Amino acid sequence: MTVEQEKTRASLAREGIAAADIWTIMDHEAEADVRWQEGRVAALVYLAGDDVAEVAKNAYLRGFSGNGLAPTAFPSLKRYESEVVDMTAGLLHAPAGLGNITSGGTESILLAVKIARDRARVRQPEITAPEIVLPETAHPGFDKAAHYFGLKTIRTPVGPDWRVDIDAYRAAITGNTVLLVGSAPNYVYTMIDPIPELSEFARERDICFHVDACVGGFFLPFVEKLGHEIIPFDFRNPGVTTISADLHKFGYTAKGASTLICRDEDIYQYQGYYFDNWPGGTYRTPTLTGTRPGGAIAAAWAVMNYLGEDGYLRLTRKTMTFMRWLRDEIEAMPDFYVVGEPDMSLIAYASDTVDMVAVGDGMAARGWRVYLERVPPSIHLMLSPGHEPFLSGYLNDLREVTELVKSGEILRKTEELKYGQ
Ligand SMILES: Cc1ncc(COP(=O)(O)O)c(C=O)c1O
Repeated sequence: MTVEQEKTRASLAREGIAAADIWTIMDHEAEADVRWQEGRVAALVYLAGDDVAEVAKNAYLRGFSGNGLAPTAFPSLKRYESEVVDMTAGLLHAPAGLGNITSGGTESILLAVKIARDRARVRQPEITAPEIVLPETAHPGFDKAAHYFGLKTIRTPVGPDWRVDIDAYRAAITGNTVLLVGSAPNYVYTMIDPIPELSEFARERDICFHVDACVGGFFLPFVEKLGHEIIPFDFRNPGVTTISADLHKFGYTAKGASTLICRDEDIYQYQGYYFDNWPGGTYRTPTLTGTRPGGAIAAAWAVMNYLGEDGYLRLTRKTMTFMRWLRDEIEAMPDFYVVGEPDMSLIAYASDTVDMVAVGDGMAARGWRVYLERVPPSIHLMLSPGHEPFLSGYLNDLREVTELVKSGEILRKTEELKYGQ
């Protein structure tokens, strides 16, 4: 820690602060946060309407003191979790309701990798250096998992259409491969990977295949029900062994909630952890964490029940309608093209004529949170239903900023804006 940092280091006050003063401080601090209520960030916060947020908050408070670590002490949470898993498994055409609520997409991915590693240890004990094959567009959570659990990731390229190059993917599969990965959709180019083909690769070798539907798991099933043609991405593909689907994204529930769903007991048996050599008793957890927040579990159950299929269909229809409009508007601007063929409400747009980093800087100066992608340099948006009223303002700014970049009045300030910052 530098001297400068030392000066601002907080220490516990001798006397507590009155709650009213704490609220004042917190409201003041929140003023510097991105204005998500005004649609200024197209990621991180998923807007489904004030009514849905109220249900999530109220349910969160009801579950607030509960701990998902102890289902016998909190049978309410046990019921909520098991019903959320059943409902999610139903949406994803899973043969059984096997799986759990986790803290988020990354934890679901970590568990999927652990399952594949532990299953291979039993079924292919000759493998000493297990590998994961995944498209280069897959989420970094897989590399994190590989790092934690002692596996290696082999990332394979996309082709000119920004879709994974199937031949390169197949060629990367070796005798050391224990897990294949596909996304529905991937964050980067916003498309569903060719899950049916990848599923066959996994089936031929009897290895695990995880579909990362963290983004699409609670959206794509409704896109399909609305009659849009999409690549079938779920357990209808016989090689799929696990799917992650995030409740706290397009499930519209409180943060701290995703699901990992397993095809059958053969897969699910490798998910949990059990330790029986502790004076404190036995320790058994289905996920990576110990204590699990009752609020997040309760909120997930409440929002799913509040919305029901009709609610999710309504929100999905609305989003798909404005996405079509947005895409047409962007493509009508002579300087931009949409990268790939977006399957849902994620979209990346790029340019051959203007510097996208300068455009990003111009948009950021007007209060929009910008996420730039590297290849091709593009601006990425991840939109939820509540973004609709803000899109015209966004496009107006985009048109003006683009002209200012072209006339040299806005110059590139930033080298690169990184994901997650
Ligand atoms: C495709 C995909 N998978 C996984 C994740 C990780 O989710 P989380 O941030 O909840 O851990 C994300 C996050 O945006 C994602 O886009």
